Amino acid sequence: MDKSKPSYIGGILEMANHRLYPFWGSLTAAVRTGESQNESKGGQDPFTALYADPAKLREFLRAMSGVSRGANMAIAQKFPWGDYRSCADIGTAQGDLVTQITLAQPHLQGIGFDLPEVGPIFEEYIASNGLDARVRFAGGSFFTDELPKADVLLFGHILHDWDLATKRMLLQKAYAALPTGGAVVVYDSIIDDARKENAFGLLMSLNMLIETPGGFDYTGADCIGWMQEAGFTHCRVEHLVGPDSMVIGIK
Ligand SMILES: C[S@@+](CC[C@H](N)C(=O)[O-])C[C@H]1O[C@@H](n2cnc3c(N)ncnc32)[C@H](O)[C@@H]1O
Repeated sequence: MDKSKPSYIGGILEMANHRLYPFWGSLTAAVRTGESQNESKGGQDPFTALYADPAKLREFLRAMSGVSRGANMAIAQKFPWGDYRSCADIGTAQGDLVTQITLAQPHLQGIGFDLPEVGPIFEEYIASNGLDARVRFAGGSFFTDELPKADVLLFGHILHDWDLATKRMLLQKAYAALPTGGAVVVYDSIIDDARKENAFGLLMSLNMLIETPGGFDYTGADCIGWMQEAGFTHCRVEHLVGPDSMVIGIK
């Protein structure tokens, strides 16, 4: 919790204080109308609305590093990285996932893909971790651009931001971009198939109702089904840390 250290994960608490707490005051309206209650109220793309303010952009990206650090470190250790040479993190934010992976796996080259306005904040973070030689930024939108080419494509807290059609579209784009034998790794607070155990995942889904026009969290069986529809095989769920699990599929 020391802001001057690279290990600082308090960004998520700062954002919860400034944004999520007041937005959750409109929970009743969210449940009654099914509409988001944040900057995207009215149906706007949640990221366009949020990133219009540079201070909110920076705070949000730091918050993502804070909330994702534990899972990112687990993915860096648990995934069979020895079988692959490169990875691309789709919707990378500050770049903590590709940072933790490439710090732990010195043979890997990494790419962080995100909206162009994220680039300078990503590059600052990569430089502060001494990874400029192996990690680069690719700016674009996964709605209009192709995904970058790499052996492994990662989606951390991305699928839950969007409606079902977009979730499926992103997995289809991943399949098209990967080489044969390549892997997709999706991670979120994956809800248990019976929807009875992972209370954090269920509450995160409610948070997506407040924060996005169509997003929701989902079970491992849901995600495996969407992966198989896109063409992936050998799909499996593996627990990471706390409420987070990853779902892996192979092309
Ligand atoms: C919920 S954050 C997840 C960040 C990070 N992967 C993590 O787990 O901490 C969603 C990310 O998707 C990015 N994003 C949103 N719309 C995008 C788009 N159309 N194309 C590429 N990235 C996008 C956002 O900028 C943000 O970094």
